[in-house]
Amino acid sequence: MARSGEQNGGMVYPDEAVLARAGVEDLRAVSQAMLVDMPSAWAEIARTQFEWYEPWHTTLDESNAPFYQWFVGGKTNIVLNALDRHVRSWRRNKAALIWEGENYETRTYTYQQLNREVSRFASVLRAMGVNKGDRVTIYMGRIPEIEIAMLACAKLGAVHSVVYGGFSVEALHGRIEDSQSRIAITADGAWLRGNVVPLKDIMDEALQRAPTIQTVIVVKRTGQDVHMEPGRDLWYHDLMNLPIADAHIETVPVDAEDPLYLLYTSGTTGAPKAILHTHGGYMVGVAATLKWVFDVQDDDTWWCAADPGWVTGHSYIIYGPLLLGATSLMYEGAPNYPFPDRWWDITERHGVTILYTAPTAIRGLMRFGDAWPNRHDLSKLRLLGSVGEPINPEAWRWYHRVIGKDRCPIMDTWWQTETGTFMISPVPATPLKPGSATLPLPGVEVDVLNEEGDPAGLNEEGYLVIKRPWPGMMRTIYGDPERYVNSYWSRFPGVYMTGDSARRDEDGYIWVIGRVDDVIKVSGYRLGTAEIESALVSHRAVAEAAVIGVPDEVRGHVIKAYCILITGVEPTQRLVEELRDHVAHEVGPIAKPATIEFVETLPKTRSGKIMRRVLKARVLGQDEGDTSTLEQ
Ligand code: PRX
Repeated sequence: MARSGEQNGGMVYPDEAVLARAGVEDLRAVSQAMLVDMPSAWAEIARTQFEWYEPWHTTLDESNAPFYQWFVGGKTNIVLNALDRHVRSWRRNKAALIWEGENYETRTYTYQQLNREVSRFASVLRAMGVNKGDRVTIYMGRIPEIEIAMLACAKLGAVHSVVYGGFSVEALHGRIEDSQSRIAITADGAWLRGNVVPLKDIMDEALQRAPTIQTVIVVKRTGQDVHMEPGRDLWYHDLMNLPIADAHIETVPVDAEDPLYLLYTSGTTGAPKAILHTHGGYMVGVAATLKWVFDVQDDDTWWCAADPGWVTGHSYIIYGPLLLGATSLMYEGAPNYPFPDRWWDITERHGVTILYTAPTAIRGLMRFGDAWPNRHDLSKLRLLGSVGEPINPEAWRWYHRVIGKDRCPIMDTWWQTETGTFMISPVPATPLKPGSATLPLPGVEVDVLNEEGDPAGLNEEGYLVIKRPWPGMMRTIYGDPERYVNSYWSRFPGVYMTGDSARRDEDGYIWVIGRVDDVIKVSGYRLGTAEIESALVSHRAVAEAAVIGVPDEVRGHVIKAYCILITGVEPTQRLVEELRDHVAHEVGPIAKPATIEFVETLPKTRSGKIMRRVLKARVLGQDEGDTSTLEQ
């Protein structure tokens, strides 16, 4: 068999050098063990690769399905395994985090240094009364302090709720309100394309709507003047200089099933859902999957170019690399600032060996041509990764050829906020097909079902489902267990409904097609129609609104909004701009509709539900499908 990165009937085989490093046999063994007895195989990984204060008595408790529990009775803390044990080992002076600011400032934290900062900030939070189970909202840019804040919460057994720094006033308010956080951590601003994102101002406005917050801790990053509310707002650096900021506090032992974090994500209807992840299972799942898929080793420099505010950042900028004792790079700014080779410059200067990013970023950088990457030495790269949406074969090939020099395999990882960890993905030894996430990982049982719940035929599009529980899975929707059951476990009883459609080919490879619900992926960011529509109708000119995603060459999808105006309001171009800005102000710039059309009516069912499917079909010039329930 040809094995030199050569393409063969659509398959791309791994390079010999890649195979020589990857733990191919190990994975075969673990796959086999998972087939024989899935919970025992996970128990073996959990027991041999992690530290526990106390062992668990039941590996997988299915008695209250779909509220599955893992490592029940076990006591640990993700920080025990992400920091404490490394500080005791030779890794104490290894770089844990290499950070580069958009303004080229750099900072490196060894495991020991990171651990000290985390301990100091945890003792500050503890002095403020933060205890096990308390929720803390974090709203920051891509700076080391976001990682320190998250780990400090985890160390105390408190539950972090990170709100992506690209979200704005109402999105932040809703998430604070729902989590009932008493403490928020933010920054004076964030750098993006040479401009300041005024995080503190946005926080102040959100807090006028959310009364639960008593204390706001503010990291100084950009240095512009911000309002500091007396009695409520405190500077991070002042607190960290107090004698209470103790660099040596003990990590709090927690139950494996105790919550680690909430992360809000968009669903089909209603407000964003608070996905809840726990310490034990998530820890085991994140570390194992990162090791399997990216084969991260001690001499690697791992760069996940996502934002810490999304699940990709939680799992694979922060927790996964630290659990493996790896060196992880975080970059603050935009990929093309100040020039389109910023990423390739970073890759060269820091000797990045593994780069993990999203198709939208690849397509965006591809537009600038080959000369920008070609002027850099990218020879240290050995693996590439993709996540967030299907990668089109053209972008895949460019990434493979121009960035990976036909040498680096691309790990197209399919997973979700809810799954917590990679689910369907190649490993370095897997023969690849551009555009397919290939095969489920060990222990993951997926299927593609038709409307009746039977397995779809070969290459037939159907619902992507997962049939067995896995350690890193969400445990519930915080505060709404019923919605957890209804959203994920009701369409086909007993199996997890992903919300995606997919097909499976003759080699068993999975091709993810896209969402089957009202979730829209804009530049890989997950948005819900409901959140954007409610922002539109909160404007005084709008009576009703409907939004859909329409395909876009670079961003995957962009948002198109339809608005019915209040009687008497003029449908002007100025109003279009005002509404776009209004959505950016309420939800965030990523949610800004690309186009807004003023209409007299919206297609609705007789029960009054907007049929977005019909709007979408009209835009795409497709058949409107079954419109028998359409109100005439
Ligand atoms: O539609 C799938 C798409 O992203 C959704 C999950 O979004 P989110 O929870 O924001 O998590 C994104 C990062 C894990 C999925 O339901 N998606 C994610 N990865 C892929 C993908 N679609 C195709 N191929 C992928 N590799």
